[in-house]
Amino acid sequence: LTSEDKKIILDSIRDIPDFPKPGIIFKDITTLLSTPDAFNTLMTHLENRYESYDLDYVAGIDARGFIFGSILADRLGVGFVPVRKKGKLPYTTVAEKYSLEYGFDEVEIHIDAFGEKEDPKVLLIDDLIATGGTAKAAANLIDKVGANCVEACFIMELAFLNGRQGFDAPVYSVLEID
Ligand code: PRP
Ligand code: MG
Repeated sequence: LTSEDKKIILDSIRDIPDFPKPGIIFKDITTLLSTPDAFNTLMTHLENRYESYDLDYVAGIDARGFIFGSILADRLGVGFVPVRKKGKLPYTTVAEKYSLEYGFDEVEIHIDAFGEKEDPKVLLIDDLIATGGTAKAAANLIDKVGANCVEACFIMELAFLNGRQGFDAPVYSVLEID
């Protein structure tokens, strides 16, 4: 990724102070999605990176991971699999809990999401890695249903939270945010 391309993407992401709570600066990617130049630059970068990975699927995390993940899957000519918040998937699921600041949340995947092939190669994608709790739970689900998470990809990484620590799979992020 050239520094010009990085700047195009970064400049398209909007900072929203005090959302969802006072003191938090929310990284709003809706402005990236509505800026064709930036969105296309990002997706072309991801397509180029993952072309050679010989992936079988891209798995996206509810909800913003669906946007980037489904476009990338289509560009690579592979299937897309959603990892969803609890209670949304209609067929038999496998679930994994993860901790939040207070309490816990749960993500689910369809038990047959990755088909019949032995050890399919899956790229996991989401918009953001903060503590890493959500993505690690999602990676565990991929493992639990018999697939191989070959990398976890994020548009943004809050590097100071060390969310990538303890990840079994390699972690790639397009932008580091301090
Ligand atoms: C945000 C973000 C990631 C997750 C990262 O989603 O989209 O999925 O938090 O945080 P973590 O690394 O600390 O787990 P959120 O749970 O706010 O829900 P949403 O995507 O449905 O808005
Ligand atoms: Mg999310």
